[in-house]
Amino acid sequence: MPLEIGKASTGASPQAEKTDPAYLKIRDLIYGISGIYYSEEKLYLLSSRCSRRMAALEVATAPEYLEHLTTRGNRDAELRLLLNEITIGETYMFRHPAQLDALRNVILPQILQIKSLISLKRLRFWCAGCSTGEEPYTLAMFLLEEKDKMLAGWTWDILATDLNDNSLETARAGIYGEYALRNSSDLLRRKYFKDLGDKRLQTNDLLKSQLRFDRINLSDDSKMIFQKGMDIIFCCNVLIYFDLTSKRRVVQHFYSNLMPGGISSWAMPSRCSRWTIHFG
Ligand SMILES: C[S@@+](CC[C@H](N)C(=O)[O-])C[C@H]1O[C@@H](n2cnc3c(N)ncnc32)[C@H](O)[C@@H]1O
Repeated sequence: MPLEIGKASTGASPQAEKTDPAYLKIRDLIYGISGIYYSEEKLYLLSSRCSRRMAALEVATAPEYLEHLTTRGNRDAELRLLLNEITIGETYMFRHPAQLDALRNVILPQILQIKSLISLKRLRFWCAGCSTGEEPYTLAMFLLEEKDKMLAGWTWDILATDLNDNSLETARAGIYGEYALRNSSDLLRRKYFKDLGDKRLQTNDLLKSQLRFDRINLSDDSKMIFQKGMDIIFCCNVLIYFDLTSKRRVVQHFYSNLMPGGISSWAMPSRCSRWTIHFG
């Protein structure tokens, strides 16, 4: 869902907020932890997002809020709450049909062939930056639809991760409205969802059982190094918020976590994906 920007106000004018050096420090803090980078021109967006947390804490100024993020006892919890505010979670089911076409026609056949040679008929997928779950549930439906065709005799698991606690909670609940489902056919809705009324559908047990959700910060090296053995990694519309240095670091982790012949897609598929292939 798109973030609604600028609802709460700290009382300061946008220009004053924009130029307050405290926002530069908050920007650097967020960048260091998450890789998300706000350029000088975009600092007004950051101040708008901070304003929600400032309103919740009844904090009036950016320097005071910076203190909450750096020196107060609950600074780690506050930073996590701020990250929940600043990430942009726009997503919906079947958002990238071209990506699924590539998976069906090019990528899966290649990987199935390679893994058949070693008689390992199991596939591991990772949706990194899965937001509220629409992308991994789409992948799960795609795989289930191939279960008796291309994937007959194969098993798989899907790891779906994000930084945002609220998004992960929504993903685990699996309740979606028309916005999220607008590209999903009636057939798939009937097969993989329960009707909750009020135009809301909930993912059924079969679909839920395909996924494992976890909170993984893509900039947290200590967690990233332990995601080995992946065949296919999707990281769509996530690294667009990162600067080049952080992008490189994350893509290097993807590469190290891929099986030989594995592949990761980490750009915006609508604009031609960048694919990282592990040729090892
Ligand atoms: C625009 S959504 C993309 C959702 C989905 N991949 C898609 O393409 O439809 C971007 C997601 O990246 C997540 N994100 C941003 N920075 C992250 C980080 N450092 N670690 C993990 N997830 C991050 C956000 O929380 C958000 O849910």
